[in-house]
Amino acid sequence: MTPKDTVVVVGAGLMGTGIAHAFASGGYPVTLVDTQPQALARARQTIEKILADGVRLGKSSQEDAAAALERLHSAGALGGAPSQAALVIETATEKMDIKQAIVREAENLFGEDTVIATNTSALSITEIASVARLPARVIGMHFFNPVHKMKLVEIVRGLQTSKPTVHKAQQWSQAIGKTSIEVNEAPGFTTSRISALLGNEAMYMLAEGVASAEDIDTSLRMAFNHPMGPLELGDMTGWDTRLSVLQYLHQTLGEKFRPCPLIVKLVKSGRHGRKTGRGVYEYDDKGVRIPNSGVRPF
Ligand SMILES: NC(=O)c1ccc[n+]([C@@H]2O[C@H](COP(=O)([O-])OP(=O)(O)OC[C@H]3O[C@@H](n4cnc5c(N)ncnc54)[C@H](O)[C@@H]3O)[C@@H](O)[C@H]2O)c1
Repeated sequence: MTPKDTVVVVGAGLMGTGIAHAFASGGYPVTLVDTQPQALARARQTIEKILADGVRLGKSSQEDAAAALERLHSAGALGGAPSQAALVIETATEKMDIKQAIVREAENLFGEDTVIATNTSALSITEIASVARLPARVIGMHFFNPVHKMKLVEIVRGLQTSKPTVHKAQQWSQAIGKTSIEVNEAPGFTTSRISALLGNEAMYMLAEGVASAEDIDTSLRMAFNHPMGPLELGDMTGWDTRLSVLQYLHQTLGEKFRPCPLIVKLVKSGRHGRKTGRGVYEYDDKGVRIPNSGVRPF
């Protein structure tokens, strides 16, 4: 078997954890990087649980799960990752300055052939790449949460992204069992643009007292066959991330994306969603939603 490319994932939060698992399970040596040691510890625990669940459900063997875990390494800084990496995927906090700093650092540490991908939900790939000496190798690879269940990767071309970079991103996506689509950069691409609008409108309905959170979510699940309602989805995505995306879309695409003030209040109160134990809904210690816990804005 030819050795697989080494992959570095920067940011061990919700998404970095899922992306690292996807590549390690696909046979790639992966180094997960985060500045917060507790994020790295949490990520490893989560990946162990996903792998154990896969074995229990008969989706993979004990040996394959153990081998995937052996391929997973971690580092507290990008400098601790193997310099021969073929792909660096940044999935750190949704802020332009953080993403540009990672691109700058990656260019200094890795060779000219290394592709630098960003998992941004909405930000401009062209702007993230603007700090690079070789912007042709910078690309968007937008994964979805939870990565082990969601099949899509949105491959986003910045103004200067080269065709070979797009081709490599398509091949890596396919190799880990994902379907990719190609998008020319536009704020929010295809997915976040729709999802942010839907979640924002649901939140306006909640704030106006049109219906309870539970009933708004039930309406989208039952009437339109959405697997989740927009408020439960926001709790899973994280309202802090959702707010950053909406602020960016509001700034770039206009008034229809103005963030609902109730989202701002949720974020200010620390109700970021499942990751803080409370968002629109509340969750117990095991992450199970507490019945009738939907926030009542009045
Ligand atoms: N949450 C989602 O459903 C979702 C879906 C698709 C894409 N995204 C995008 O993925 C990215 C990450 O989102 P998330 O939900 O995983 O966020 P998160 O808050 O769960 O995790 C972000 C992690 O990045 C780390 N970090 C911050 N700066 C860093 C740096 N300089 N170097 C290394 N690590 C650093 C933080 O310590 C944290 O652990 C964002 O760009 C977001 O828009 C999120």
